[in-house]
Amino acid sequence: MLACRGLLLTCLLLTTTVQSQRSCTDLLPLDLLARALPPQGQTPPTQVGHRFGASSMWSQMNFKDVTLDDNRWHTVVLAITGPYASLTIDCGLTLGLQQVQSFPSSLSTRGSRVYIGTRRRWRGRFTVIQTCSHWSFCVKGLMRQLVLLPGSDATPRLCPTSDPSLAELSVPNVLKSTPLQPDQEGPIYPYGKERLDYVEDYLDLYTSSETFDVEIFSIPSEGLFMAAANRDSRPGSGIYKWTEGSFQLYQNISTQEARAWKHFTIDEKVKKRSWFWSSLLRDSQIFLVVANSREAEPELSVIYRWNWRRQRFLRHQTLETHSAVDWEAFSIHNHSFLVVANHRRARDSNHNIHSVIYKWNPNTKLFEVNQTLSTSGAYDWEFFTVGPYHFLVVANTFDGHTTAVSSTIYVWLDGCFQTFQNIQTVGATDWETFHIDGRFFLAVANSQKVSSRGPSLYSINSTVYELNALTQTFIRFQDILTHSAVDWEFFTVGDEKFLVVANSHDGSSYSLNSVVYRWQGYEGFVPVHSLPTFGCRDWEHFSTDKGSFLIYSSATSRLSKVFKLRTY
Ligand SMILES: *[C@@H]1O[C@H](CO)[C@@H](O)[C@H](O)[C@H]1NC(C)=O
Ligand SMILES: *[C@@H]1O[C@H](CO)[C@@H](O)[C@H](O)[C@H]1NC(C)=O
Ligand SMILES: *[C@@H]1O[C@H](CO)[C@@H](O)[C@H](O)[C@H]1NC(C)=O
Ligand SMILES: *[C@@H]1O[C@H](CO)[C@@H](O)[C@H](O)[C@H]1NC(C)=O
Repeated sequence: MLACRGLLLTCLLLTTTVQSQRSCTDLLPLDLLARALPPQGQTPPTQVGHRFGASSMWSQMNFKDVTLDDNRWHTVVLAITGPYASLTIDCGLTLGLQQVQSFPSSLSTRGSRVYIGTRRRWRGRFTVIQTCSHWSFCVKGLMRQLVLLPGSDATPRLCPTSDPSLAELSVPNVLKSTPLQPDQEGPIYPYGKERLDYVEDYLDLYTSSETFDVEIFSIPSEGLFMAAANRDSRPGSGIYKWTEGSFQLYQNISTQEARAWKHFTIDEKVKKRSWFWSSLLRDSQIFLVVANSREAEPELSVIYRWNWRRQRFLRHQTLETHSAVDWEAFSIHNHSFLVVANHRRARDSNHNIHSVIYKWNPNTKLFEVNQTLSTSGAYDWEFFTVGPYHFLVVANTFDGHTTAVSSTIYVWLDGCFQTFQNIQTVGATDWETFHIDGRFFLAVANSQKVSSRGPSLYSINSTVYELNALTQTFIRFQDILTHSAVDWEFFTVGDEKFLVVANSHDGSSYSLNSVVYRWQGYEGFVPVHSLPTFGCRDWEHFSTDKGSFLIYSSATSRLSKVFKLRTY
């Protein structure tokens, strides 16, 4: 379908790009295919060429000395404009050819057929022949991806670097935007946008104890801050300030086995009076709430408020929680809410308890209980909005017997949250919500499958779900193998979208790679980078004037690491 649409555009615009590509990181399909390929030297030479013409007059041209037959993947870009054709392999030197006959300025595509991947000619290899009415081109070899692009030459877009392994495999945006003008003057050149090149070690940050969560936020006219949820009560958790390209400890806050921090603001109308006037001003109050997980009565979590005069966070309110592991803050119709993930009650070690939604009372300036929701070992809450609807989703980890429990999505109706959909999860620890090109997604981190006999399984699938507008439900979009996944973080660099997963354990080790996946359209999320982590618990993306960064915190070590996202 895509090819056909591309083909149509191609024919109208008289330009073709063929791309088949090797990506150094997505190894699995490459290895599988490698086994299916005949060994080197036993195959006919690869031909790259194209031919076209009216039914009576064919013109055929071949690029000579093209070596593609080496059992590796290659990026092949073929561009045709007027009498010119160019071929670029692996983003190297471009070979040019001029032909006697110009590519026709208009072609009928009615009744055209497209063949991709016939195996007729050579056993064990695919011959790819692509036909557009009287015009065709062929690339012989095994083709992994074919992209047709309008424009006179897509080489600069596909080959921004001379290292072909960095070239990208994706659905070009140009294919998604229609209609294209067939009589558009001149070639369509892509414009440069920032893109992720590689990820670089930037900073080692030693916190006072193991860190279960980092929360990045900014305070207007103060700067960028990070709250680290640390295990030990003394000196407790650390608030860090980004100073000269690094996080410096700014404030110690005593916490009880802190598991998470959440930052939020509440806009208040405050009356300001002076001797001759009185007016209402909008004032932004900055809060931080900590999830304390220590199972000792009374179990309390604390809300802190930023004091502008003293330039630090001061205690504002305490709330009874039960082994709290997460807070989510949100607002609906200008009412501010907080919801806590109560994981387990200390008194009876029960996981099937209530998690509580609190609502801000502007008169008392305190949070008050608004609704309770029954959860099973709740681990994470996420709030999201789709169109006019507000949702909350909980990650239920464990019901006391099994981790195969359902996690629930709630929708806000008639002044309270009501069940919208239950999704079967396996030790769910995190939900991440994001949208791409008008499509809405939810990703769950599944951490552990407990088995009545034998050890637990940690290498299990985590799943990305997509909201289906027709059925009005979330439907499985992609399974991704993870190793006791405990966090997903979605981020963008330029136009590109990424997900990074916190892989924390595989059953024997905590020293595992966390993986960065790039959104590649119909291929979904494809692994592009592996980052060595130790007991990885949380990933956060943030940007400063020094660029774009990722930070991860460790639940088994004092070392948190900052990585810099290098772009080109
Ligand atoms: C935080 O606590 C540590 C350890 O007690 C201490 O060395 C440090 O000076 C404190 N930092 C601040 C900013 O209070
Ligand atoms: C929320 O507050 C903003 C700013 O005070 C105001 O413009 C807006 O109308 C309010 N919305 C609702 C739904 O009350
Ligand atoms: C919870 O908050 C909503 C929105 O303000 C309100 O309509 C509802 O009455 C509240 N429920 C309770 C039990 O306070
Ligand atoms: C993960 O999902 C894929 C695709 O749905 C499936 O083929 C595979 O068996 C699953 N793996 C595990 C470990 O569940």
